[in-house]
Amino acid sequence: PLIRREDYAPYPWRVPTTELRFVLGVDKTTVQAKLKVERNPHANPANVLRLNGDGLKPAGVWIDGSLANSWEMDGDDLLITLPGDAHEVSIDTQIDPAGNSQLMGLYASNGMLCTQCEAEGFRRITFFPDRPDVLSTYTVRMEGSKADFPVLLSNGNCTASGEGEDGSHWAEWHDPWPKPSYLFALVAGQLVANTDSFTTMNGRKVDLAIWVRPEDLSRTDHAMESLKRSMQWDEQAFGREYDLDVFNIVAVSDFNMGAMENKSLNIFNTKYVLADQETATDGDYDAIEGVIGHEYFHNWSGNRITCRDWFQLSLKEGFTVLRDQLFSAAMGSEPVKRIEDVRVLRSVQFPEDSGPLAHPIRPDSYREISNFYTATVYNKGAEVIRMMRTMAGEERFRRGTDLYFDRHDGEAATCEDFVTAIEDGAGLDLADFRRWYQQAGTPKVSAKLEHVGDTATLHLEQAVPATPGQPDKRPMPIPLKIALFDRKSGKHHGEQLVTLTEAQQTFSFAGFDESPVLSINRDFSAPVAIEREVADEDLVFLAANDDDPFARYEAMQDLVVGHLRGLLSGSVDAAKRDSGRAAIGEAFRAVIADGELDDLMRGELLTLPGETYLAEQMLVADPAAIRAEREGLKAWLGQSLESDLVAMHERAAAAPGGMSAEAKGARKIKTSALVFLAAGNPDLAETMAAAQYDAATTMTDRQGALMVLTSLQGPQRTHKLLDFYNRFKGNALVIDKWFALQASSLHPSVLEQVKALAGHPDFTLKNPNRVRSLYMPFTGTAQGFHAASGGGYKMIADLILELDPINPQTAARFVSPLGRWRRIEPERSALMKGELERIAAAPKLSRDTYEQVTRSLG
Ligand code: ARG
Ligand code: ZN
Repeated sequence: PLIRREDYAPYPWRVPTTELRFVLGVDKTTVQAKLKVERNPHANPANVLRLNGDGLKPAGVWIDGSLANSWEMDGDDLLITLPGDAHEVSIDTQIDPAGNSQLMGLYASNGMLCTQCEAEGFRRITFFPDRPDVLSTYTVRMEGSKADFPVLLSNGNCTASGEGEDGSHWAEWHDPWPKPSYLFALVAGQLVANTDSFTTMNGRKVDLAIWVRPEDLSRTDHAMESLKRSMQWDEQAFGREYDLDVFNIVAVSDFNMGAMENKSLNIFNTKYVLADQETATDGDYDAIEGVIGHEYFHNWSGNRITCRDWFQLSLKEGFTVLRDQLFSAAMGSEPVKRIEDVRVLRSVQFPEDSGPLAHPIRPDSYREISNFYTATVYNKGAEVIRMMRTMAGEERFRRGTDLYFDRHDGEAATCEDFVTAIEDGAGLDLADFRRWYQQAGTPKVSAKLEHVGDTATLHLEQAVPATPGQPDKRPMPIPLKIALFDRKSGKHHGEQLVTLTEAQQTFSFAGFDESPVLSINRDFSAPVAIEREVADEDLVFLAANDDDPFARYEAMQDLVVGHLRGLLSGSVDAAKRDSGRAAIGEAFRAVIADGELDDLMRGELLTLPGETYLAEQMLVADPAAIRAEREGLKAWLGQSLESDLVAMHERAAAAPGGMSAEAKGARKIKTSALVFLAAGNPDLAETMAAAQYDAATTMTDRQGALMVLTSLQGPQRTHKLLDFYNRFKGNALVIDKWFALQASSLHPSVLEQVKALAGHPDFTLKNPNRVRSLYMPFTGTAQGFHAASGGGYKMIADLILELDPINPQTAARFVSPLGRWRRIEPERSALMKGELERIAAAPKLSRDTYEQVTRSLG
């Protein structure tokens, strides 16, 4: 059924306390739930208590201590008729964690037991009002074999423990903070901990522990440091203090998502915990810091204040993503972090917003909420809140968030509550700005600068494209940071914030004797697509002179996008190819030579716009043509800048190691150099990459070199892939990289290679990381996924059909690459659509996959 936001009604019952008793076993776990329930005075009364279940059968139901038969099943739900205003309801259930391949609810992973309850997994453990607006205080008792499960963890504090008979033991945990069921967690297994402590701003000493399998303990220090930095930063940046005496993190190798913010017991995908220099890249280190921060920050933005219903998901996710972005920016390079975040937005969220799965950051309806954990809800949601921060300024924004935390602490709130608190606290009028929550689609803003006399006039026009279910849109307030540069001095007259509130508006600026150069959407102040006619020489000027690092990056991107788009659309004569390349080459040379730039930023400026972002620029894209034109440019740059690139590589190779920004920057540009050289001079690149691989003391260098070799066709490809496999055999996260490198390569046979890898003994559909590492990168390959034969599309459709019964949540994630069919050239488009139709026709599709496929065919 379709669930609608407008149908929200409060739950008729409250559940002040919940007691859970688990007798744990990998194949059989029994659960006794005891719920105190009382009528909710703020809801329409009902005598029936509807408790959600998913694949459960009640083994017994008791009301106020007596065995009851006044219950019935309604589909998966349990309905209990209650005569009075307050009762105690007890229910027994039995589950099979080892048989739980969906990884939702209580499941087994490597012999340990763990849970994932968000969004609707708790109902796979016991019958419960499994919705975020029902908050309850939990007490959990678990009992199990001491040998199998020496460590027993749940939310809150451990209040008692002891030994039982026949080698069993037990522990009791109590969480004093009322919470919704999606924040419940339990872990039992053979785990060891990296322990530490943090003292909060008011002197509370918090015991910290990161729990992993014994062989992984040596790779947990970075996660621990990241956790302490997160706790410290949230105090200083948002005034948020931790509220319990313990904080536990557990790393699990079978996990559908990145991590989960369960109250005081965060559960993480191992990918976002484990790191050392030999096995994790600089990117992995950054991702761990970001995700540790993200989950920790949820303690306030998510747990203390949770969501009223799942339509409000962006309330906690958008805000928490913004918080983790600001945290990472503060820990490292602010401009580089901003560029990375915008790159993700443009390559993942923009295509979502322009495709059949487009939805507002606060959706209006869904069938399966798991499908709405999207880049739109997360990343665009963060951008929307960032715009409020930009309009208010940092200080006033902080007053707004202070008010929000204060006003709604302990509540299940809405996005509307958040916006109102920012309005009240920051003193903003956000009446029209609320449209960002309602309307899907990336606004297109066209900008034209006119110069007459001494006045520069900026003409702005916005259009929000139609999206499924939303044919007509209203204008949205769009805050744009701009600067007008003087051509001679290379300086501007001060940055300004203009807010475009109408469909069309003009802004005038006096005092310009000559026509200035416009720098617009600086720092990417609004998540929009700017369309403007701009001369290449102005872009070259901005790439060299703009004092906003993001704008500088943007000018480089625009230069390349304009060039490639012109050639691909036929609007630019192929004879002009050389002059376009020459302009880009000059800009690149300047970037390589610029002594003022740090190497991390240099690496960003040397990154070409990706194929998906380029495809996004065209109404109908030909993936093969995009690939060919982009690779052609790479090869040309590789050849004409060969000596500069070789020198840059040499210079960086001599830089010291370690984790400083300098060392990370040096590693980044080494691989950038190899990428261009590989296109321009494959033999030279093969030699250099093989040497970098052999000399590598870090995974960053080794993986960078292997990535380049994997896309080449020389003998080193096979040698190094084999060496890499043998070197890291048994380390699952590194073997994931080995699969991913091959599946993302530029090699012409990538389709056949991925097919063969699916038969590799290390490949399994049961582990989401492994599935994603093979097939997700593959969906980005022009010559593989988009092979003219349709073989790539068929492979992904086959994967979806095979994975769906095992893990529907992960299977459904593979639908969106096929969903791009309307924006692809006609022959491939028909093949993609055909595969979607084949999936749609399959019997017994999960709700997850069914929803994504039908929306995609729309
Ligand atoms: N709340 C988690 C996070 O972003 C993600 C959980 C997603 N779970 C799911 N079933 N889709 O931090
Ligand atoms: Zn989150």
